[in-house]
Amino acid sequence: VSDAAVVLGKRLRKQAASCLFLGSPLYDVLLRAAADDAEREGPTFALMKDLAFSPPGAALALKLMGAVHRLVLEGGAPALEPYYPSVGGTLVPEGAWPSFASVLEDRKDELQSSIGRPVQTNEVGRCGGFVGGFLEVAAATGLPLSLLEIGASGGLNLRWDEYRYEAGAASWGPPSSPVRLEEFERAPSLRGEAVVKARRGCDAHPIDPTTVDGRLTLTSYVWPDQSWRLRLLEGAFEVAEKVPVQVDEMGAAQWLEERLRVDEKGLATVVYHSIVMQYLGSEERGRVEELLHGAGARATNAAPFARLSMEPPEREDDIGDGLTAVRLTMWPGGDSRLIARCGFHGRPVRALEHAS
Ligand SMILES: C[S@@+](CC[C@H](N)C(=O)[O-])C[C@H]1O[C@@H](n2cnc3c(N)ncnc32)[C@H](O)[C@@H]1O
Repeated sequence: VSDAAVVLGKRLRKQAASCLFLGSPLYDVLLRAAADDAEREGPTFALMKDLAFSPPGAALALKLMGAVHRLVLEGGAPALEPYYPSVGGTLVPEGAWPSFASVLEDRKDELQSSIGRPVQTNEVGRCGGFVGGFLEVAAATGLPLSLLEIGASGGLNLRWDEYRYEAGAASWGPPSSPVRLEEFERAPSLRGEAVVKARRGCDAHPIDPTTVDGRLTLTSYVWPDQSWRLRLLEGAFEVAEKVPVQVDEMGAAQWLEERLRVDEKGLATVVYHSIVMQYLGSEERGRVEELLHGAGARATNAAPFARLSMEPPEREDDIGDGLTAVRLTMWPGGDSRLIARCGFHGRPVRALEHAS
């Protein structure tokens, strides 16, 4: 067996375990079978052998799954439909492999062209982790918000105030919103008004959720048996039709440099980001930190500034159960607190006691 086959097998198996942990039995079954298949140099190997040694961040297993899901969503792999809940499938995943393997063989050319795409999602569920922070900035400043999101992907989380948050007796947001976030293990305080006056984002590769291709791309990288993620995405697509947002095609540092040049009086500026920092090179990352601290240092009560981040935990006191850390820093003052932990896809949300 070649080195490439061994490496591919290992990488596919590792992703299988992570899909199982994050709640996708379908991808667990398929990726374990694909790992075995790669090791015996079957159709998975034929399709992926050139990717075997791509860098760890390339998420090659999810490239494979996304390419196949895209085909299924387009109606190009009917044999898999009964196993893919995203297109109405109801069969248990255990029987899916033979159909999956046939699709890899029969549609090799199409898959070969889409497997090279970067894996890109926009997780609307993360708004459940952010909402407490936004409401806190609005309450603390008494000002309308100007939202600036870096690594905004499809810009769906720039419309967080158009979504409905439900946590038992507490709720926030338009009751008729097609997006309902209810995954609170411990909810933040869902009280108070927040008026969003401006919303703008940037991304190295923005995706337009108002186009068929943009929606297909964002949907294809969601795991097909995670109906809650798909439901949130579909609701957010509906909102995106009505609430326009500009997502500039630009790297985070350059964009912040332009956007933070003017301090907006009478508005509370909030820069936020979720699962983005790991994609920035160390130089750009350093520059982003510098720009944010510079903006913080210039902030006044008339033009306050906040940073809200949802990233894998970095500091020792942020570590918790495979969850992200949601941190809010507000200037003037620069007071910084961990306000919540939440799942990588936004579920569950565990607000910390002092967030209320
Ligand atoms: C894991 S996604 C998260 C997207 C979104 N923040 C969310 O939570 O759904 C990471 C995003 O960062 C973007 N990205 C990568 N490098 C970037 C950079 N240097 N500047 C801005 N965005 C970048 C990617 O294109 C991608 O959309």
